[in-house]
Amino acid sequence: MLGRGAKEAQLKQRGHVFWFYGLSGSGKSTLANSLERKLAEQGYVTKILDGDNVRSRLNRDLGFSDEDRQENIRRIAEVARLFLDAGIIVFTSFITPKRELRAAAREIVGEGDMTPVYVEASFETCAQRDVKGLYAKAAAGRVKHFTGKDSSFEAPESADADWTISTDGQTEEESLNQLLDKVLPLIKKADS
Ligand code: ADX
Repeated sequence: MLGRGAKEAQLKQRGHVFWFYGLSGSGKSTLANSLERKLAEQGYVTKILDGDNVRSRLNRDLGFSDEDRQENIRRIAEVARLFLDAGIIVFTSFITPKRELRAAAREIVGEGDMTPVYVEASFETCAQRDVKGLYAKAAAGRVKHFTGKDSSFEAPESADADWTISTDGQTEEESLNQLLDKVLPLIKKADS
């Protein structure tokens, strides 16, 4: 079987998992998508894992209890690891509300192969954006275990523990450029 090194040489990139986490509506998927587009222009091969392609299929048996979120994250980390083995750059976009869950994902993927990225926006901002109409539903008491309301979200333990991209006070382009500067050194092959 061809190993990761051979795949990375073929793709002229280094595989890495960028684990985007944060409240629903914080901008995780938007940023992952624009980052993917930018990197594609430079020839990088990437894969986004998000609610659309994972929660609705592989993980459609799972809900939002603590146990189900744990299993959700475990499976996603295992899938991310498979992509990594193929030399691919992975962006995951899941709330991943607890430090313990982020640590478990990192344990599965491998310490040096995964960078947690906190996409920060306040509950109020996300509720104002309410892209999916879920915040209004939750306010009306029609969503169980809603993150930030009746299910907790843990921010990183310190300001410099994880990368933090704030979407509250800057434009999408500013957030994207900030990310690109940090991502590129990790995925560039030494000889390219
Ligand atoms: S996680 O906590 O297990 O990481 P995940 O990111 O997969 O969550 O799913 C969150 C998405 O599911 C939200 O963006 C939202 O669209 C939807 N969702 C449905 N019910 C809930 C809920 N109770 N809490 C949070 N998100 C929910």
